[in-house]
Amino acid sequence: MLCSALWTVGAASGDGRIAGRVPVPECAVHGTRRHHGWVQTRNRTLQNITPVESGEFAPIPLGRGIDVWPPVVLAPMAGVTDVPFRRLCRQFGAGLYVNQMITARAWLENDPKTLKLAEFGADESPRSIQLYGTVPEEVGECVRRLVEQDEVDHIDMNFGCPAPKVTRHGGGAALPIRKNLLRRIVRAAVTNAGDVPVTIKFRKGVSDDWLTFLDTGRIAEEEGCAAIALHARTSEQLYSGQADWAAIAELKSHVTSIPVLGNGDIWEASDAISMMRATGCDGVVIGRGCLGRPWLFGDFAAAFDNRPFADLPTLGDTAAMMQEHARLVVEWYGSEGALRTFRKHALWYLMGYAIGGETRNRIARIETLDELRMLLESCDPDQEFPVQVLRQPRSHTGGPKPVVVPEGWFDDLESDQPPGRGADAFVSGG
Ligand SMILES: Cc1cc2nc3c(=O)[nH]c(=O)nc-3n(C[C@H](O)[C@H](O)[C@H](O)COP(=O)(O)O)c2cc1C
Repeated sequence: MLCSALWTVGAASGDGRIAGRVPVPECAVHGTRRHHGWVQTRNRTLQNITPVESGEFAPIPLGRGIDVWPPVVLAPMAGVTDVPFRRLCRQFGAGLYVNQMITARAWLENDPKTLKLAEFGADESPRSIQLYGTVPEEVGECVRRLVEQDEVDHIDMNFGCPAPKVTRHGGGAALPIRKNLLRRIVRAAVTNAGDVPVTIKFRKGVSDDWLTFLDTGRIAEEEGCAAIALHARTSEQLYSGQADWAAIAELKSHVTSIPVLGNGDIWEASDAISMMRATGCDGVVIGRGCLGRPWLFGDFAAAFDNRPFADLPTLGDTAAMMQEHARLVVEWYGSEGALRTFRKHALWYLMGYAIGGETRNRIARIETLDELRMLLESCDPDQEFPVQVLRQPRSHTGGPKPVVVPEGWFDDLESDQPPGRGADAFVSGG
């Protein structure tokens, strides 16, 4: 029941590096030797794959002293990867934890919601944010000020948003079709970022007929990006079907001078290792697999350092995690009203546990910390983790769906001019 499975990051080495983790003898949250009640025995190991050998994989060097180890990145996810969730994930493992996406224009216009999104926890290091913009000058100005004001340590740019609201104006995943515009935006970001590393994340293309990922990767490499990440689906696919890991391998052999990260369908630590072995990629980005499962970052850390994993959480362990998460939400947003944002997390945490429809419905409408505690106390704490949901997708699963782009978007492929203003609508996704 000790917290020795927790790892401190960043501050431990004092220089912003996230390699070189040290085990902490006491709970990072409560300063006690007990940690919220979830059990930390270690008797799970990787199933069906060869353990990682020492030296088989390396930290991802992003620059500015940021070496990501294990080579695992928490994907930016709108409405999900906020300070409380990132903090909880970091308590279990190490790696890189990206904030939610902000749009350059909204940040420049001091949109209050965007400014709140762009905040980090006091102890968070490195501070990694995702940025979206379609106008090179705006992106450049936003990056310049973010860096000048020392707001961030890493900037990831989103070129994979499939939302029709932006693609129909030429933004999101439709933008890489115009390579010269893409290049201008990436250049504006990199040249204004100084030594702050800029990475980009994108999809395979709009559809199988319009694959752009190899060109996008090459442009990122030529313009000085620190790394790239491919969500190996087309925009048309949305989240349907399986991620095409072969495309990650293709990108890796095409882009040779900067790290290439693979993204799509990592549900367990073994998938991360399998993806890296199968594709040769330098690291992985994990999205939906960690929803309701921040402990997965402990599995990643254990797998890459060839240590046994902690037990899968019982319902009592999960209940303790949920209460801690909810407490962090209230603390960060300053009121129990913010628990509305926690409701979806609560349902992800409880996927597969037998708690009864009535309790699940009440948790889906949770209003207060006390209410959450009482509902969870009514559940059997000894109930085993429902292994049947380990590989079950959560959150987005939709698609395929035809992608709408502006009329004439494919006619003027050489244009480097920004699309219409609607392309910068306040949406996100990738
Ligand atoms: C709720 C949700 C919100 C997302 N928001 C973003 C986003 O803001 N930026 C982005 O690049 N990708 C976003 N994505 C996509 C993920 O980062 C990731 O690329 C995708 O889920 C595929 O990885 P996975 O199979 O591990 O989930 C989002 C995904 C989900 C499920």
